[in-house]
Amino acid sequence: MNEATEVTLAQWRARIDGALARVTANGAPLPEKVRDAVHYSLTGEGKRLRGLLVLAAYEALGGKGNAVGLAAAVEIVHAYSLVHDDLPCMDNDHIRRGRPTTHRAFGVATATVAGVAMVALAVTQAVQAAETLGLSADVTKRLVSVLMQSSGATGMVGGQLMDLMSEGREIPVKQLEAIHRAKTGALIAASVTLGGLAAGGSAAAVDALAKAGESLGLAFQIADDVLDATASSEALGKSAGADAKLEKSTYVSTMGVQAAKAHGEALVADAMQRLQAAGLKNGPLLELARFVAARRS
Ligand code: IPE
Ligand code: IPE
Ligand code: MG
Ligand code: MG
Ligand code: MG
Repeated sequence: MNEATEVTLAQWRARIDGALARVTANGAPLPEKVRDAVHYSLTGEGKRLRGLLVLAAYEALGGKGNAVGLAAAVEIVHAYSLVHDDLPCMDNDHIRRGRPTTHRAFGVATATVAGVAMVALAVTQAVQAAETLGLSADVTKRLVSVLMQSSGATGMVGGQLMDLMSEGREIPVKQLEAIHRAKTGALIAASVTLGGLAAGGSAAAVDALAKAGESLGLAFQIADDVLDATASSEALGKSAGADAKLEKSTYVSTMGVQAAKAHGEALVADAMQRLQAAGLKNGPLLELARFVAARRS
């Protein structure tokens, strides 16, 4: 990776981490136990890919303000999705980001409530970020709507339900693709879309970002399936081999590791081509796209 891009991404990551650590400060209106659980799940050591995509897309479309709050809003939704994903009624996982899962640390009831509270915190954060950026009411409305649609029943939540319903069954790859696009792809596509919208990008440029984001989002979940089957729990900071244990429908169970890897790489190549064709040559965005398939954790 080019050194300047590496420095930029490290700085952005630190700013996103700072914003996430502040969400529960300043008297967030939450009962203490819930606030602690929210803080715990927001400050776990994640890659911050979605937040970084917001900032990279924002910069790629010429944004000059401070969009870190918007990046944090997406990371709050993502962190909530992980809290719920790990619950006993879902994937029943014990380790996340190298530590006990939120329900292991705080109990199932508190973790469940904390997850839901985070949806509200994410919306508040997005609206505040739009204010900081001086965006119009119209753009603010679009940002909140993109964020919530990608997280709701037509996006992440809907995908999670289909994922659970597909345990122990063989499903056609088209259906698996739809699950992955919904449970993971939608929020990743939303990340670049939000950055583009906040920067005031043209409809064509935002559309190009969104399409690239959809390919990246699917590729990201395919890589997650591959890593679950091939990497160690230590490297992942979560339990490897969980998919096979739960008899999940994944790209690995459906087509094998090699074909899944090749498919993910082709999707990333497609995303990079779309970005380049749209004239988006910004270093961090292309670097993050490359990272999606090449990552080891
Ligand atoms: C894990 O996401 C859950 C999926 C959607 C595959 P990440 O791999 O981005 O998790 P963190 O944020 O780095 O912990
Ligand atoms: C989770 O997919 C997708 C989410 C919306 C959280 P996984 O269940 O495969 O994620 P991990 O492997 O537990 O991180
Ligand atoms: Mg899951
Ligand atoms: Mg899981
Ligand atoms: Mg997984």
